[in-house]
Amino acid sequence: MEPSSLSNKPNSYNYFVVALFLLSAGLVFGLLGALQYIIPGFLKEYLSFEKIRPLHVSSVVFWIILAATGSTLTYVQQHTKRKIYSSFLMKAQLAIFVFAIAIILISYIIGVFGGREYWEFPPLLALPIAIGWILFLFNVFKSLKGLRNQPVYVWMWMTGCVFFLFTFLESYLWIFPYFRNNIIHDMTIQWKSYGSIVGSWNMLIYGCSIFLMDKISESTHYSYSRIAFSLYFLGLFNLMFNWGHHIYTLPTHDYVKNISYLVSMTELLIFGRIIYSWKSSLTQARKNLHIESYRFLLAADIWVFLTLFLAILMSIPSINVYTHGTHITVAHTMGATIGINTMLLFAFCFDILKSKNNAANTNHKYSLISWAFTNISLLIFWITLIVAGVLKAKWQMAQTQIPFSSMMKSLQPAFIIFFLAGCALVLGLVAIIQRILRSN
Ligand code: HEM
Repeated sequence: MEPSSLSNKPNSYNYFVVALFLLSAGLVFGLLGALQYIIPGFLKEYLSFEKIRPLHVSSVVFWIILAATGSTLTYVQQHTKRKIYSSFLMKAQLAIFVFAIAIILISYIIGVFGGREYWEFPPLLALPIAIGWILFLFNVFKSLKGLRNQPVYVWMWMTGCVFFLFTFLESYLWIFPYFRNNIIHDMTIQWKSYGSIVGSWNMLIYGCSIFLMDKISESTHYSYSRIAFSLYFLGLFNLMFNWGHHIYTLPTHDYVKNISYLVSMTELLIFGRIIYSWKSSLTQARKNLHIESYRFLLAADIWVFLTLFLAILMSIPSINVYTHGTHITVAHTMGATIGINTMLLFAFCFDILKSKNNAANTNHKYSLISWAFTNISLLIFWITLIVAGVLKAKWQMAQTQIPFSSMMKSLQPAFIIFFLAGCALVLGLVAIIQRILRSN
């Protein structure tokens, strides 16, 4: 499975450079946003919270998308042991994404919006993203050539490619008055598409994770296993129906909410179990050989269970009524996108970008310290958000109305810890980014 014919620098190298740059930019915007919690009105004239939030969210979302597509393109080549179908399409896809992302970030800075939450940029800019994705889809399908007897990760990659395009386009149905004019339909479609977009990039990331686990253990045990195929089918079902737990506050049928809740939890549980049993089956020698990637897979596994715990609590309807619109939701989203997605993407980055010479020269002590420091900071960051969320939920439900400004003032200690933990998290993440870039 080693990329014997590929040179030290993979042809996806620039995907990772751009993705890591976006992650770094996202961290700066995140810190500024956290500072605005403590100092209301900070930088208001140039970069108000209304601009900082989408700048942060879009930068980190595109970090995930670019790193996930870069990893898929690399692992497709390692799986087929052939070059990608078209290097030109691969470069064109990246160029289109870079062009669109740059305009999106600039449009936020100059205050031009027009989209909806998470995709707040003018809807026209969705067009280059969709075109770039079509090139990606075409390249992956042409390189894989058919589904006969393929391991589970190939199914995951193909499904992720198709569903992302479909659900991304679906998230823009609101531009047509037919969908926009009925608020319940409009919000249901909106949240359905967001849940499914995340499910689609998760398909790409799960596929890469299983490929990497097999590569590290030098076996094809997991890629043809029954449990991995169960994860695939659950993931597929989840892609289509997990939106139910995003619409607790809308008047839809209870069975839709309950089924989707059950499926989302089961998917996380199975994914967590796969990494857990894979880890137990590895020999110490195999672990040592891939120590960086191994550690980040392990971290993701721990975060799968923490996210699962919070998600189970949040999905109980009587609790969800309280958590809605509080920092508990932000803790859930950031816990999953940092703890699971980002940790897994780091595992792929180390595997794909490390050169053989540098693997031997890894400073193990520094690598372990930065890994542990990042995860402990993330845990404090996450707990603080949950605490702030609980305090806000109490305020939302209080019988006697305390003014919003007094409630925000009472949250100051939590916001200060959140900011400090955020600074520590940024330090840890920057140390990891720097190690990834130096490992080639
Ligand atoms: C890999 C790193 C990170 C990722 C993937 C990430 C992801 C996200 C996502 C997806 C959201 C939207 C949450 C929602 O709407 O529910 C968000 C919001 C936010 N993040 Fe991050 N984040 C990261 C790091 C940070 C850091 C280091 C800070 C700074 C301390 C930070 C501060 C914020 C703030 C202030 C918000 C806005 C919350 C609100 O709307 O009140 N993030 N982040």
